[in-house]
Amino acid sequence: MTSEPPKPKRLLLVVACALVDADGRVLIAQRPEGKQLAGMWEFPGGKVEPGETPEDCLVRELREELGIETKTACLAPLTFASHSYDDFHLLMPLYVCRRFWGTPEPKEAQALKWVRPKQMRDYPMPPADAPLIPFLIDLL
Ligand code: C5P
Repeated sequence: MTSEPPKPKRLLLVVACALVDADGRVLIAQRPEGKQLAGMWEFPGGKVEPGETPEDCLVRELREELGIETKTACLAPLTFASHSYDDFHLLMPLYVCRRFWGTPEPKEAQALKWVRPKQMRDYPMPPADAPLIPFLIDLL
C-alpha cells in the first residue's frame, strides 16, 4: 500500500515592522484574547492583501493598528522569518522603521511596550518572530 504524499501547506504572507524610537527601543504588541497565539508579543504588521506591496501593507497596518503614519521610503527591509505552523507556512519579512508621525496607540485592544532588543527575550513571542531578535540586537 502506498501512502499519500503530504499535502502542501498554504503559504501565508505577513509583513512585520520593528518600529524604533529615538532611544533605540522597539515597539512590541501583545496579541489580544480571541486571536491565535493570544498573549504572545509580536512585531506590529499583518497580512498582505491582493494587489498590495509589502511596504503598502505596512503603511496601512501601522495606521490601522497604531494610528501612526509613515511612508514606504521610511521602511528598510532587515530580514525575514520563515516558519511552518501546523496548518500553514508563514513567510514574514521584517522591516525597520525609524521615521513615523504620531504616537502609537493600541487601536485593536492590544497592549503595547517599548523594549530594548535584548529585553525582548523576556517576552513570549510566536515561534516565527523570536528568531528575528538577534538581527535587531546586531542592528541597534
Ligand atoms: O495577525 P494574524 O492573526 O492575521 O496572523 C496570521 C497568523 O500568522 C497568526 O495566527 C500567527 O500564527 C502568524 N503570525 C506570527 N507572527 C506575527 C504575526 C502573525 O507568527 N507577528
